Amino acid sequence: MLIKVPRGWEIPEREVTPEDVYLNRRKFLTRASAAAAVGIGGLILPGEKALALPGGKGNAKPALAPLTAPRNPEYKVDRPISSEQAATRYNNYYEFTEAKDQVWKEAQDFVARPWQIEFKGQVEKPRKIDVDELIKQMTLEERVYRHRCVERWVVIVPFIGFPMKKLVEWAKPTSKARFVRMVSFFRPGEAPQQRVEGPWSGYWPYHEGLTMEEATNELAFMVVGIYGKVLPNQNGAPIRIHTPWKYGFKSIKAITRFEFVEKEPPTFWHQAVPNEYDFEANINPNKPHPRWSQAREQLVETGEIIPTRLYNGYGKYVANLYNI
Ligand code: MTE
Repeated sequence: MLIKVPRGWEIPEREVTPEDVYLNRRKFLTRASAAAAVGIGGLILPGEKALALPGGKGNAKPALAPLTAPRNPEYKVDRPISSEQAATRYNNYYEFTEAKDQVWKEAQDFVARPWQIEFKGQVEKPRKIDVDELIKQMTLEERVYRHRCVERWVVIVPFIGFPMKKLVEWAKPTSKARFVRMVSFFRPGEAPQQRVEGPWSGYWPYHEGLTMEEATNELAFMVVGIYGKVLPNQNGAPIRIHTPWKYGFKSIKAITRFEFVEKEPPTFWHQAVPNEYDFEANINPNKPHPRWSQAREQLVETGEIIPTRLYNGYGKYVANLYNI
């Protein structure tokens, strides 16, 4: 995610390398190191640097509990599943750090259990529930989904969870509910970036929203595990959503609250950088980001650059929701 707030180091628009040049993998390393020096990692697609993912055992603590569920064969992807390393060592989680390859370390000590989730707003009855109590009431399945960031990097992940539609049914919204607003945690003691001044100051906790039609679309998924294990902290423990037809920033991590509302709720990135990140955030190769094209994307693991597909290839399920 990129923040359009002028800073000393910001590259002026006219000096940003044209897309064709910086999508060239051979040029990547040079630009990546330059970018790393000024902290604008998101501008450059991951390439060789992303491949040099930290390895070895003994890094993660404690070992994550196994969590398995039958794979739903309906959701097919056109590429192999990314390695666990790629999906758990290259993350966006701004509460902890802007450095994607450091998130997993910074989030290690985050306490994700016990964890209460609140349901409020336009519901028959507001209530709170422990995340594990909620999970027990749901039937888990595995879905292999594409996960595409607005910054153009892609991983393909076996997510474990349950349809968001089931969660909405459980919450019993009233007929007045038109949107669901989701709110993450605010714990500056554990999340260093919530303590420091930045472009997002004043907007924590991270918050997102979906229309009721989106939240109840069959693709919208509540995620509680990946790669046959309980969800790691860096990927949003204990519970997040995944909406694979939308840019990754919609897929809010570590959710503490679902609020059913009548009006479109403000969202974190839209508030922080309104001209760059909208509420809908559907993946669309023909709608460029103000500072880069969205026509192509890059697999984190292999560095392969491939065309972006409208709705990330999930048009069959969601195209009827929009007018494109
Ligand atoms: N949720 C919270 N609470 N905080 C965040 O910074 N980043 C978003 C999204 N959910 C974010 C978040 C962005 S920009 C992306 S691309 C995805 O999480 C990244 O998910 P991943 O790290 O599991 O790949």
